[in-house]
Amino acid sequence: MAVDLVVKNCTVVTTEGRTPDSGIAVEDGTIVAVGRSDRLPDADRTLDGAGNVLVPGIVDAHIHNREPGLEYKEDWETATRAAAAGGVTTVVGMPNTEPVIDRPERLAVKFDRGEASAYVDFQSFVVVTSENRERIPALDEAGALGYKIFLGSTVGDVPPPTDGEILEAMNAIRKTGKRLGFHEENGEIIDYYERQFREAGQNRPIDHAHSRPVIAEREAIERMITFAEETGAKIHMYHVSSGSGAEAVGRGKARGVDVTAETTPHYLWFTEDVLTEKGNVARIQPPIRDEREQARLWKALEDGAIDSIATDHAPHTDEEKKVDDPFGNTWEAISGFVGLETEVPVMLTFVDQGKLSLEEWVYHHATRPAQIWGMYPQKGSLRIGTDADFAIVDPDREWTLTDRNELHSKTRVTPFEGETFTGKAVSTVVRGEVVYDDGEITGEPGYGSRVDVD
Ligand code: DOR
Ligand code: ZN
Repeated sequence: MAVDLVVKNCTVVTTEGRTPDSGIAVEDGTIVAVGRSDRLPDADRTLDGAGNVLVPGIVDAHIHNREPGLEYKEDWETATRAAAAGGVTTVVGMPNTEPVIDRPERLAVKFDRGEASAYVDFQSFVVVTSENRERIPALDEAGALGYKIFLGSTVGDVPPPTDGEILEAMNAIRKTGKRLGFHEENGEIIDYYERQFREAGQNRPIDHAHSRPVIAEREAIERMITFAEETGAKIHMYHVSSGSGAEAVGRGKARGVDVTAETTPHYLWFTEDVLTEKGNVARIQPPIRDEREQARLWKALEDGAIDSIATDHAPHTDEEKKVDDPFGNTWEAISGFVGLETEVPVMLTFVDQGKLSLEEWVYHHATRPAQIWGMYPQKGSLRIGTDADFAIVDPDREWTLTDRNELHSKTRVTPFEGETFTGKAVSTVVRGEVVYDDGEITGEPGYGSRVDVD
């Protein structure tokens, strides 16, 4: 009897190691065999991996898919189309939409829209504010993946809860067993410096970065770790931008706090010089840091203080990003840029440069995020009986993102335009369906499904 799909002639890489001349067999959307190409069963469809590398599908647990309410920037369909083209098989949407995702009915809308139009599998975070603490258990029952608190002002202007409210939220979230993530910038520090910079007429893109200093990140991380130590809550630091912040996470881990952290491809690739080279296109919150902070961030990734990689994919229109005038008044430009189709190339380029191994890349970009958010081993592994989510990547393909209009997201502002990479996703498979192959989107909107978590 033939299985549905077999992929042959790859080097299969997981966190445990690599096996050349091998592949994977899929039946009913799940993995039924991983092994030597010549030992795999017959299949209705066979793909030749052509000697490329097969890895668990990338899990990007931090994207702004903008639906509901901000579909002019991006929606589930376009964000997950970009994911498919980027080797990403699971994405998690952020709750700073319009309205914000702060109650079960709104989460249901977010999920329904995803079920109707996503190309890859998905989940969603819900926001915790001063207003909705009593809904924490209901949001858990409604299937949220985890909770998010914004500690400082950023896109969407979700006001931060007080420290007392955060402590109480942690107590309530601990009882759900789920994890609470933070946009960790101390709001009082960044608001103070933004006012000072604006009043002094410091309007360059680099001024925006300097108005949100590293201490704002480090202090927020240390305070939330202290709160978690007190309450026993599981916490996560989104988009850690600095070595100072990452080292604070490491100290929290050493103290026994259940704190996890992610960083992004852009903090590892660019230094703040990109703001003087490419201007507001590279403006993001938290900002891209200097070389010393970046070197320490790399060290923290190697040491285990940083767990995972996610993009913070944050689509905005060309007008909002002031693309026509990239060195214009930074206070008139918005923060964030897209990343779903450059994250695999960036990480594979680091692999090519010897900065991490393929196994380490898989750990940080698929296995570890799935573990952090309770989706493992269904996602992020290639174990028998789990979802057949994988990407085939060519680790040697050299290419340049010459034209951002080749991207599949709805809006396409990225500082990675013009950058040269070694490595690219060639095919993407979600629960046994080939959703991207050799430059073409081959999946269907609505195929993607919500990942169920307890
Ligand atoms: O630069 C950012 N953009 N930082 C955030 O915290 C939010 C994001 C967005 O939603 O655009
Ligand atoms: Zn974000």
